Amino acid sequence: MEKQAAQARIQELRGILTENSRRYYVDNAPTMSDYEFDILMHELEDLEAEWPEFRTADSPTQRVGSDLQKGFVQRPHRYPMLSLANTYSISEVEEFAARAEKTLENGFSYCCELKFDGTAICLTYRNGTLYRALTRGDGIKGDDVTENARCIANIPQRLHGDYPPDFEIRGEVLMPYSAFDALNEERAANEEPPFANPRNAASGSLKLLDSAEVARRGLMCTLYHIPAQSGLDFESHDEALKAAASWGLPVSGERRLVHDIGGIREYIDHWDVNRKFLPFATDGIVIKINEMAAQRTLGYTAKVPRWAVAYKFKAEQALTPILSIDYQVGRTGAITPVANLEPVQLSGTVVKRATLVNAGQMEALDIHEGDWVYVEKGGEIIPKITAVEPSRRKPGARRPEFPVACPDCGTPLVREEDEAKWFCPNSDGCPMQIKGELLHFMSRRAMNVLAGEATVDQLFDLGLARTPADLYDLSLQELLTLDGWKEKSARRFRASLDASRDVPFERVLFALGIRFVGETTARAIARHFGSMDALAFATREQLLEVPDVGEVIADSVTKYFSDERHLVEIRRLRSHGLQFSVEREDESLSEALAGKTIVISGTFSISRDDMKALISRHGGKNSGSVSGKTTFLLAGENPGPEKLRKCSELGVPVLDEKAFMALLPPDTLKSVPFDEEPTLF
Ligand code: IVH
Repeated sequence: MEKQAAQARIQELRGILTENSRRYYVDNAPTMSDYEFDILMHELEDLEAEWPEFRTADSPTQRVGSDLQKGFVQRPHRYPMLSLANTYSISEVEEFAARAEKTLENGFSYCCELKFDGTAICLTYRNGTLYRALTRGDGIKGDDVTENARCIANIPQRLHGDYPPDFEIRGEVLMPYSAFDALNEERAANEEPPFANPRNAASGSLKLLDSAEVARRGLMCTLYHIPAQSGLDFESHDEALKAAASWGLPVSGERRLVHDIGGIREYIDHWDVNRKFLPFATDGIVIKINEMAAQRTLGYTAKVPRWAVAYKFKAEQALTPILSIDYQVGRTGAITPVANLEPVQLSGTVVKRATLVNAGQMEALDIHEGDWVYVEKGGEIIPKITAVEPSRRKPGARRPEFPVACPDCGTPLVREEDEAKWFCPNSDGCPMQIKGELLHFMSRRAMNVLAGEATVDQLFDLGLARTPADLYDLSLQELLTLDGWKEKSARRFRASLDASRDVPFERVLFALGIRFVGETTARAIARHFGSMDALAFATREQLLEVPDVGEVIADSVTKYFSDERHLVEIRRLRSHGLQFSVEREDESLSEALAGKTIVISGTFSISRDDMKALISRHGGKNSGSVSGKTTFLLAGENPGPEKLRKCSELGVPVLDEKAFMALLPPDTLKSVPFDEEPTLF
């Protein structure tokens, strides 16, 4: 690959991976399967290895994903909480074993374990009592979820036996399939969006602000790691876990000690089949070098231990026949074929429907009526059809006829040359599109208004809401006259509309549903232009200056703002008090550095003035010289030797830029200043 192309791809991959990591860890709503994510991460690792000049400390390859969330106190981990190197290839597991055998002279063994698919937790016990529970967070600091951990049935409050006075143990919080199904049924009944999988449900539940609700969610915990740095004198990992079990802790029981790659293979083959019968989700197995001395010899990289590797199973597949095909109309008018299937068990849940994506994909798969198809779960709730089983095709089976008119409004469909999708062009009149726009506007990642499909159907059918601004016109009294609305539901709906006035501009922009403007693009555009007015004035050329905005997006945005109906809608939304500009530069971002006095020295990736502004926006105090009151010295490149000497004399810690950035809540980084622009509306 050419240097420039490599650099562009590296930047692109970083953007995609950072965005998806946030969706996975913070929103608990990934839009990409783990497999797709891991493949892209490996591609980025390879490119950075080939082009070391493009390596940066903030690349997703150098960080563990962050689950830090507002509403929880953050606390530093005593020892960093690392991730695991993972692979889908057995030959890479063989390489891991070969490397271990080459490096380690003495006899050693492998501890094979299940890779539990939940959310990581770190428990501290003091004097036999549960003292603290932290999430992984960004690996350096985690959210304090102690009260919620106390509500997980199999986490003991008190230990028994011969436990050490103060120690940490790490593991995974899981939601068993039975609890997951019950939760999603309840959410569907309340018109709340379902969780995509038990992992998202587990991490979403662990981050609830209401511990009583956590207790109801049926979470469980399984523990698999006592950090070696704790200083407990165990010879091996297995011995440590046995001891933990003897103190009453829930330790993973399915582990096995083996002595060579043959043993590892047997373990993998066994669980590849038998994991289907477990009551909770697993996504692979973990192979750890068992002896502590051997672990010490192998050591760690910045992100992962060299003494362990995770082998991940490819997504499970199921084979089942298609019963019929529905054609759904999305908010953009795109027609999505969805197959109704003979119900089949897949990764712990029953699958009845799967997407065929679009007309192009149906052609590529060569779907025929009644075909037996392979289904797989990706990041989305609705599984995908990935292939047809040709040996089971009935003789004379025909290709399904793709509709020529919109199944909702009857308008003839259009398909641009070389496009995979058919569209209903009636964007202003097609009920499904209008309702889809409303649902998108209200969705959690947009304005987060609490209402589901049934509410939108009702409001639309009664002629009460056709555009988002109509929603804000609805009064409590008016809602109470509608069928099925009670005081409580009406108040909840109104309150969430009122709260949506504080949703930041970038999400308002995303909520408008401008074609091709997804969350990431909306954020980039919002930060670049700073306000709705500036954006509406922007020319195509100015839009093209925004990183990652190409011609398609620029055309779509200018087209949107040249439509008088959109301008009317935007004016109405403004009059309802929605956020139409980004936060001011001098506004506080967090209290992460409150009470800290910081001295900076040397050069950084941003200017020194910007660094000082960053410190004060996070509540910290800047100081010019090192003294006994200094909390730490933030040292960039070429820091002043005198300052460093003073620090070592006074015992003041020295942090580099990377360590410093890790102290700041990740969602506050990269806020770009903007200039005032003229007002259009
Ligand atoms: S050991 C220093 N063992 O997988 C190594 N992790 O993809 C500590 N996980 O962050 C981790 N099952 O949340 C370990 N049996 C197991 C595991 C396991 C699941 C999770 C854990 C880790 C992630 C890495």
